[in-house]
Amino acid sequence: MDVFRIQGGARLAGEVYVSGAKNSSLKLMAVALLAPGVTTIHAVPNIVDVTIMAELLRRLGCTVSYDATSETVVIEVPEVIEHRADYDLVRRMRASIAVLGPLVARTGAADVALPGGDAIGSRGLDMHTAGLERMGATVTNEHGYLVVHAPLEGLIGTQVFLDFPSVGATETLLMAGVTANGTTVIDNAAREPEIVDICNMLVRMGAQIEGIGSHLLTITGVSALNPVEYTTVSDRIVAGTWAVAAAITQGDITVHNANPDHLAIALEKLVTAGAIVNKTGTGFRIQMERRPTAIDIATLPYPGFPTDLQPQFIALNAIAEGSAMVTENLFEGRFRFVQELSRLGAEVRTDGHHALIRGRTGLSGAPVEATDIRAGAGLVLAGLVADGETTVHAVDHIDRGYVNFEKQLTLLGADIVRESIADLS
Ligand code: EPU
Repeated sequence: MDVFRIQGGARLAGEVYVSGAKNSSLKLMAVALLAPGVTTIHAVPNIVDVTIMAELLRRLGCTVSYDATSETVVIEVPEVIEHRADYDLVRRMRASIAVLGPLVARTGAADVALPGGDAIGSRGLDMHTAGLERMGATVTNEHGYLVVHAPLEGLIGTQVFLDFPSVGATETLLMAGVTANGTTVIDNAAREPEIVDICNMLVRMGAQIEGIGSHLLTITGVSALNPVEYTTVSDRIVAGTWAVAAAITQGDITVHNANPDHLAIALEKLVTAGAIVNKTGTGFRIQMERRPTAIDIATLPYPGFPTDLQPQFIALNAIAEGSAMVTENLFEGRFRFVQELSRLGAEVRTDGHHALIRGRTGLSGAPVEATDIRAGAGLVLAGLVADGETTVHAVDHIDRGYVNFEKQLTLLGADIVRESIADLS
């Protein structure tokens, strides 16, 4: 396993280009299953999760090729596909659950391994299954697999009210609904830009969806969809991580291929912290000329503050002037990384889903371990401003969400190198 070795203290300045969103690309690859033929998706980031999704699609019968240079995936979907997603792949990537909806829609059945909990929380599937049941499917849990069967005549459009605007459940029901009989209404649907992206691709394929971007999605089932060529929406979480990188290092970063509207609350928070943010033709520029002021945040479904930027903002608060309260409303395990941040001298106390951070004038470099993608990003950002050397272990987590993170940081002026653990002896 690789580590990042960071010498803190550099001010980051320069330009970065953001690729397509991981959390959209992976789902768009699953969407391809809905239409036999050749689907081409651009701006698919070169991360291991894409490799895992490609392997999953191959096992379902597809031919998949990925070109890392052009970031393009080509998926050839046969008329007849398999319907089983094995534990060895689902265990490695929770997003594998994205094939659930398309499999039931295409084949009338799905055997998908239960992903289980992970480092950020328990991550249930009850809303996915309750929605499919309302559409007429039977769902059982057999030997660690979710076994789903649609009625012989196919899924039946109905009204589904989600208890919570779950991203995953909205996606499953959307993909199940596009070819169901009749009209499916998803009330309290998630509104994330990645959901909009999936809707836009589905519409391009011939689906009929109203209310895109709202909490009420009305889907009129069509008999078949056509394969298309599509480009993934840019990754707002990667763009937001660059914004915090500028703020925490008192730097000046221009972020290209980013949509500042997708980051409205996060950028507004950074302005409150003292940053200067300006939209550009291709994204935004963020400058910070003083020590940041501590800022309270509370994570919520989009358009609320994204949970995937919460660790990065805790890192910012750790060196800010004043104290801040961070409330995590989505994933109960997301404060696990606070223990690691404390190794750098951060003063953070957690109580349930609240974290109280007292900003310090400096952090002190130390070895730390990334527990998930975003925790890893937060620790790297903290390491950039810590005194001396910080070694971030388990960077394979970070690699799952950030392509060439250390190379891009180096281009911005950071002192960071990747080393394999064997080199450290
Ligand atoms: N939940 C349930 N039952 C369900 C579905 C969700 O209890 O049937 C709960 C979850 O346990 C969690 C909360 O609802 O506590 C939110 O879950 P949601 O379904 O909205 O999230 P997700 O689809 O599992 C995606 C992203 C996450 C991102 C969240 C929220 C992917 C692959 N993952 O997860 O991304 O944090 O939405 O925006 O799209 C990441 O990229 O680092 C990451 C974790």
